[in-house]
Amino acid sequence: MAAAVGFQRCLFAKGRDSQSPAKLNVTGADSLRAHASAVGLQVGFAVVPQLLDLNADPASGSQTGSQDVYTRTVIEQASILVAENAMKWSSLRPTATTYAFDQADRLFAFAAHCTQQVRGHNLCWHEQLPAWFATTATKDNARDLLTQHIQTVAGRYAGRVHSWDVVNEAVHIPDGRADCLRKSPWLEFIGPEYIELAFTAAAKADPQAKLTYNDYDIELDTAEQTAKRGQVLQLVRRLHARGIPIHAIGIQSHLQASGPRAGAGVISLIREAAKMGLDVYITEMDVNTHALEGGPDAQDAAVAAVYKSYLDLVLPEPNVKAVLTWGFTSARTWLNQSKQPWALRPDGARQRPLPFDDEYAPTPAFFAMRNSLDSARQPVVPTDILTPQQNQGDPYAPFAVPGSPGVPPPPVPQPKLQG
Ligand code: XIL
Repeated sequence: MAAAVGFQRCLFAKGRDSQSPAKLNVTGADSLRAHASAVGLQVGFAVVPQLLDLNADPASGSQTGSQDVYTRTVIEQASILVAENAMKWSSLRPTATTYAFDQADRLFAFAAHCTQQVRGHNLCWHEQLPAWFATTATKDNARDLLTQHIQTVAGRYAGRVHSWDVVNEAVHIPDGRADCLRKSPWLEFIGPEYIELAFTAAAKADPQAKLTYNDYDIELDTAEQTAKRGQVLQLVRRLHARGIPIHAIGIQSHLQASGPRAGAGVISLIREAAKMGLDVYITEMDVNTHALEGGPDAQDAAVAAVYKSYLDLVLPEPNVKAVLTWGFTSARTWLNQSKQPWALRPDGARQRPLPFDDEYAPTPAFFAMRNSLDSARQPVVPTDILTPQQNQGDPYAPFAVPGSPGVPPPPVPQPKLQG
């Protein structure tokens, strides 16, 4: 049975991939994980922890077939994982006073077993709040609710998190505010300072995680996305200049197969992040084909072309450190489940937005990703980029920021006690 699955995967790859058969092996040294690691990048997926088999043997690889194909693909291909839903408020907070950590714990146990890193997603968002939130949260208790949640959740996994999406999707220009912040429940209850409150609480709870601001529709050079990207940068700059602990920008990268491609704008955001010493993570990549005509082959070609052009553009930037897709198989993607009309194809066909298809065979997007990883760290060093100013060893060390109101003095060295 296991051999049959492996054989099928090979056939599928051969059928859809235009490259030479020599490149069709996709495991071991030919995996995304191995190719990313060779160029110092992390690669991985959003996963459903419930589906991961904790008894899987990471060393056995695809040869034994003792693991289910979902678990095996995650082990073989990913060096970093994120929970698609299991670490959101709606999953972690059954009631206002309790926590349900079983699924999140499972993810951390699995990742440790398979020497994979974990991104935390997320600590503060306007969506997927539990039902009790609407009747319980008020102006009086929202600060405590937010800080206690962050202390408890980020504290529990402290030292084991690669990076936390501390605040997700806080910018929304259509809401009409001068600061372009979204009118989220957090903003309405706490005010704009909820953002720094969240970052400060996260830094206290987990001083090792890279604290990330994550957002979508900031990739393209359209008028809307250019404006939103500018506001995201302003927000991050304001936080950074005021000494709020923020270490990375997450660019979600939910892209479309039809329409314009990303270009100079996203590169300028990445380079502005570098000037502040910030990492960039491609956090939720997938390619939506709802508006693309044609069958599965046409979808695959268009999706792969977007992966290739996007990753060829962003991965060579030295401060881009990780790329994660939102799911990895079209058998389980929000784009094939979503109630949102923009996810559904008029012909009723399923979307194929990810590096593996419904049968867990690699799609052309897999090979596009792998090729982009291979060329990502060829020496393409832009000359107009400033050296990151931050002391890389200590992300909290003070450093000068243009426009900053003041930089705290360096710590006074303490005399060593004798004896
Ligand atoms: C999505 C999940 O994939 C769905 O299963 C869920 O129903 C809704 O949320 N931006 C984010 C992610 O930051 O958390 C969202 O995930 C996709 C958009």
